Amino acid sequence: MFGNYKKAGRGDFMNVMCYSEQRVRGVLQFLFPKAHHSGLEELSTLPTFPHTASTVTMSETTITLKRTGDKMPVVGFGLWKVTKATCADTVYNAIKAGYRLLDGAGDYGNEKEAGEGLRRAIADGIVKREDVFVTSKLWNTFHAHDHAKALAKHQLQLWGIDYFDLFLVHFPISLEYVDPSHRYPPEWWGDDGKVHLAKVPLQETWTAMEELVDEGLAKNIGLSNTQGSLLLDVLRYARIEPQVLQVEIHPYLTQEALVKLAAIHGIAVTGYSSFGPQSYVELGAHKGASSLLEHDSIAQIASKNNKTPAQILLRWAVQRGLAVVPKSNNHERLVSNLQVTSFSLSEDEIKAISALNINLRLNDPVDLDPRMDIFA
Ligand SMILES: NC(=O)c1ccc[n+]([C@@H]2O[C@H](COP(=O)([O-])OP(=O)(O)OC[C@H]3O[C@@H](n4cnc5c(N)ncnc54)[C@H](OP(=O)(O)O)[C@@H]3O)[C@@H](O)[C@H]2O)c1
Repeated sequence: MFGNYKKAGRGDFMNVMCYSEQRVRGVLQFLFPKAHHSGLEELSTLPTFPHTASTVTMSETTITLKRTGDKMPVVGFGLWKVTKATCADTVYNAIKAGYRLLDGAGDYGNEKEAGEGLRRAIADGIVKREDVFVTSKLWNTFHAHDHAKALAKHQLQLWGIDYFDLFLVHFPISLEYVDPSHRYPPEWWGDDGKVHLAKVPLQETWTAMEELVDEGLAKNIGLSNTQGSLLLDVLRYARIEPQVLQVEIHPYLTQEALVKLAAIHGIAVTGYSSFGPQSYVELGAHKGASSLLEHDSIAQIASKNNKTPAQILLRWAVQRGLAVVPKSNNHERLVSNLQVTSFSLSEDEIKAISALNINLRLNDPVDLDPRMDIFA
């Protein structure tokens, strides 16, 4: 995985009563369909595997974030591995096709081009800035307080916008600082090709993230690639709690416990790499996993619903109460990926897809360096 991953160059709920009530109820209903949720104390007595189709109604296209009430689109466009050369046009066309969330990151190396596409769409009157939910992420080499703030400002300049709707800590891994004027994005490695860990605790980074909110540079802040114990630790000291958790979720890695924990704390979850191994094939990093898009169970459900396998994978996630951010460099696929909020899968179909879980994690920094086993 290392070589190709390195070459590829990138690391990589709904109207509320409010979120903390309706969303938690919704996800819990998904998790425990037969239970009546009068309170979270019931959790301990409930069965432990999620299957039902009843959490997300067919018309739901946004998730309302708890702290701000901001509406985060359920389906967004992922920018990882969208090439610089095509990025501005792809983003412009994605917005024209109806996407209202762009999922970027400093590490993707295409923020300037993504910003060009967004600003062109605004200039052409397709959208206003406030119509598009822009997400970006802070890379590992910038976790120190002052670096985090400086980088967020640099990233906003690249996009050519005044604020991010959501800014995430990309990984709970701190690496040695690399000056952006020397190399940007710095990826995982120093000039010597080795990973250099840095001793910046996440609390320091989180304080900087909160100050970005204070200064109006980020409307919402959150975490990515973070599991339960660390999430709970952030909640102990957070003045501004994480609003969104973005993690790898697909039928080979269903992550029920983490999704449940986030729901209990009123944190919306975005599942990335919805198509599982597909995104990692081009990196030679799919770990030998068979395609989900060609899986018999998915193909059968797709055929029965007159949808594509990709739409079934996305709908499975959305129906679990997750947001998704599929990426495609192909316009036809990009358009069809957006069309997953107007049909429903049956409870049995959801169950059959969830049963494919093999806890296969494709995006795992331990594959780059054993000291970075954040999911151990
Ligand atoms: N927070 C993190 O650490 C992290 C990590 C990974 C990803 N992400 C985010 O999540 C987004 C999505 O994840 P991802 O990029 O890993 O993968 P993905 O969206 O699950 O899959 C992308 C792959 O599937 C193909 N594809 C897209 N639509 C398709 C369709 N309808 N039918 C068949 N194939 C299709 C794409 O090829 P074509 O382009 O040729 O269509 C590409 O090879 C990223 O872009 C990024 O924004 C975040």
